[in-house]
Amino acid sequence: MAKTDGLPEGLARPALSGVRPYEPGRPADDVRRELGIESVVKLASNEGPFEPMPAALEAIRAAAPAQRLYPDAGAWALRDALAAHLGVDAAQIMPGAGIDALIRFLCTLTLDPGDELAMCWPSFVSWRQGTRVQGATLRTAPLGADGAYDLDALADEVGPQTKLVVVVSPNNPTGGAVGSSALAAFLDRLPEHVLPVVDEAYFEYLPEGGHDAVGLVREGRAVAALRTFSKAYGLAGLRVGYLVGPPPLVTALGVVRNAFDVNAVAQAAAIASLAEGSAHLPERMALIASERAAVAAGLRALGLDPLPSSANFVLVDLGSPHRAAAVNAALLQRGVIVRPAGPFGAPAALRITIGWPEENARMLATMGEALSG
Ligand SMILES: Cc1ncc(COP(=O)(O)O)c(C=O)c1O
Repeated sequence: MAKTDGLPEGLARPALSGVRPYEPGRPADDVRRELGIESVVKLASNEGPFEPMPAALEAIRAAAPAQRLYPDAGAWALRDALAAHLGVDAAQIMPGAGIDALIRFLCTLTLDPGDELAMCWPSFVSWRQGTRVQGATLRTAPLGADGAYDLDALADEVGPQTKLVVVVSPNNPTGGAVGSSALAAFLDRLPEHVLPVVDEAYFEYLPEGGHDAVGLVREGRAVAALRTFSKAYGLAGLRVGYLVGPPPLVTALGVVRNAFDVNAVAQAAAIASLAEGSAHLPERMALIASERAAVAAGLRALGLDPLPSSANFVLVDLGSPHRAAAVNAALLQRGVIVRPAGPFGAPAALRITIGWPEENARMLATMGEALSG
């Protein structure tokens, strides 16, 4: 019998011995409780400041009484709505409980010990986590100086053992995005034994003419695109995202996904959001772009040098991990939560989500105090 103070010897797979849990950004309530300050600004998890769209809030209310029942396991109404919205076939779509769940399913589907996932680094930590949990090998290439994926360097990391090649664009934590034609040319260079995946969690924030991996799937390329309702659509709490890719990939993922992965409220809210997106997204994205420019200018006025960003956050290098930790602590003391980028591979940097204008202004004023304190 297992002792109550520990696990039976050898219970967890040896491959997991060096894997640490994901560290999320600090919740605002946590900081309120710990520091006893009422007014806390959370610019740490890239959710963005927007509420769910009005039609999504209505759909959430309308769905509540039926929660005695399991959701539609196939999420067919959501697949159909996405198919119509994106101009693809429903058989090319796999919804998931956020991109995070789909990352884990892709890794579970493809990676055994000895297999490789290639990506650039610093980048989104769930890809590294999913690889390590499988006991597989992560191959990393550096980013370009602009914080976007260096696709030439990434291509050099692809070898005979590589199963997945991931392009996160705009990249988290840096915000840099690859160009549309550079992405297509990169995909053309990849050998047939790899599956390229483009993590477009911040797709809606890309400027005009930005890449569109779903469009590449539509053209019949063997690539998977990942998108989410967590960011621009304001549904991070409900956990809903989707993969668009070749139908055989969607079928194969059916084996590793959870039966009732996407809850019924999330499905209803996502469908309603799609229908209302064009009414709200342009204005929302324009606000983020202008606030991002104001935040970058404000940080530069404080002597910092944020990376150019095509997303709803900016990364700022503080010169050393020690200074980043000190500035982060000083911001927290004053009720401003940003995200230390160490877990993403950038220990000397802080990632700052773009919020409402007054939140950004407070962050900048507090950053000024933190830097001089
Ligand atoms: C690049 C990237 N991919 C995926 C995710 C996860 O998104 P979701 O909320 O859909 O799980 C995030 C969230 O921060 C992200 O930054």
